[in-house]
Amino acid sequence: MTLLDETPDTRYLQLADTLAEAIRRGTLRPGDRLPSVRRCAQTHRVSINTVVSAYRTLEDRGLIEARPQSGFYVRSTLPALKMASAPSGRIEPPADDVLALIDTVFAAQQNPAFTNIALACPQTSDFYPGGKLGRMLSSQLRRQPDLIGQYPLPPGSLRLRQQIARRSMTLGMLLEPGDVVLTHGCMEALQLALRVTTKPGDCVGLESPTYFYLLPLLASLGLKALEIPTDPQLGLSLDALELLLNEKRLNAVIAMPTVQNPLGCTMPLAAKKRLARLMNDHQVPLIEDGLYAEIQFGGALSPAVKAFDRDGWVLFCSSFTKTLAPDFRVGWICGGRFHEALRKLKAVSSMSESQLLSETLATFLESGGYDHHLRNLRKRYAAQVDEARALIARHFPRGTLATQPAGGFVFWVEFPPGVDSVALFHQLLEEQICLTPGTLYSPSGRYRNALRLSCCYPFNARYTQALARLGARACEMSGLPPGIAQDG
Ligand SMILES: Cc1ncc(COP(=O)(O)O)c(C=O)c1O
Repeated sequence: MTLLDETPDTRYLQLADTLAEAIRRGTLRPGDRLPSVRRCAQTHRVSINTVVSAYRTLEDRGLIEARPQSGFYVRSTLPALKMASAPSGRIEPPADDVLALIDTVFAAQQNPAFTNIALACPQTSDFYPGGKLGRMLSSQLRRQPDLIGQYPLPPGSLRLRQQIARRSMTLGMLLEPGDVVLTHGCMEALQLALRVTTKPGDCVGLESPTYFYLLPLLASLGLKALEIPTDPQLGLSLDALELLLNEKRLNAVIAMPTVQNPLGCTMPLAAKKRLARLMNDHQVPLIEDGLYAEIQFGGALSPAVKAFDRDGWVLFCSSFTKTLAPDFRVGWICGGRFHEALRKLKAVSSMSESQLLSETLATFLESGGYDHHLRNLRKRYAAQVDEARALIARHFPRGTLATQPAGGFVFWVEFPPGVDSVALFHQLLEEQICLTPGTLYSPSGRYRNALRLSCCYPFNARYTQALARLGARACEMSGLPPGIAQDG
């Protein structure tokens, strides 16, 4: 699509997104001067006003700045977090205080007086096609009122499984509807995957930092966690993983190779291929959590590791929680060589998913509206991440580092020495602002000087003020002034 295909009132946003993508990819680098407004208008065949609005939008997102008498320049962004965490080499049961902290965070999330800037629970209909799904749900019920009175038996809606299999091609996977087991959200998919691949006492390799709810899940199954160093840009360290596999210390691995939570990074393609090869060669199951894989920024989607799964050792888990309807609780798993065991375990665990909700999702996916919705979602989150990073650069103490996510809406912030995210968490709870301190993301309670932030909330005054408050508290604690040094 060219800019000329857009309606006039969205053309400037399209142009802003194109330029933002060029900045994100490094085609336009910090300090580079943007073309003059007139030149840009000629190049993109749009009006001067469109370019001015696009440049203003990029200014608001903190990506460019106007310099008097000189033009617009790409701003220096937040310094990216580069370090790879040191391997822990320790086997840890999830710490009790980590579990208690998660309870507190969930309680705060459910209290409307609190402003949440950390949980990955998108709010408001802006992020979900709630109206359209609601209408489809009502018409589904009108057409098939008996659905409510029918027992949903495994393997569940064929139409939905067909759609999931068809869509899996966008992530490079070739699946049949019969390969898909519907689950109660991604969480049940992960749980079933662990139950068919491990037994109590086994050791599961996790990215460090990792999605915090994996820790109580492992604990509930009597499993031990082993943290594997994870680079904020490149993802799981494959050298460390290979060492652990050679030493036969892992019974399974859970990883998010595409848009990792909490770092936001996506492993390079070659690394994904190597990961698939390693797991297949060592015959150790990889539980691939692909929950955010469809919300990748930029051009072509990076494929799932499952796309390179030679002998069926990769179990791919996902759901519609982050893209369509969290309340439907519909997820799925494609379990490779574990498929039969998964199918049986799902049936005895929770039988099957609601036919009404599954059929409604199938109708939505068949209608073709999903791709359009995803395109909007990606743009929206990419813009919100840019804006949040700009606020961090303004309000957080000098020396703060942050990841640059490849998709989704969460990213990781590391404070300079002297800032304790658990202390910040307690301080800000008193101001009714809820954080998730870095310690939540590690079974051994590491990352006390870090935290995850989430941009899945409306970017309103309440959210931006909460970020500014967090920055102010962190400055007080570190004794450092706010503002990241500009190199542009
Ligand atoms: C990485 C990751 N996996 C799994 C889940 C759970 O997904 P669901 O709500 O579909 O069970 C989440 C929820 O935030 C998540 O971030």
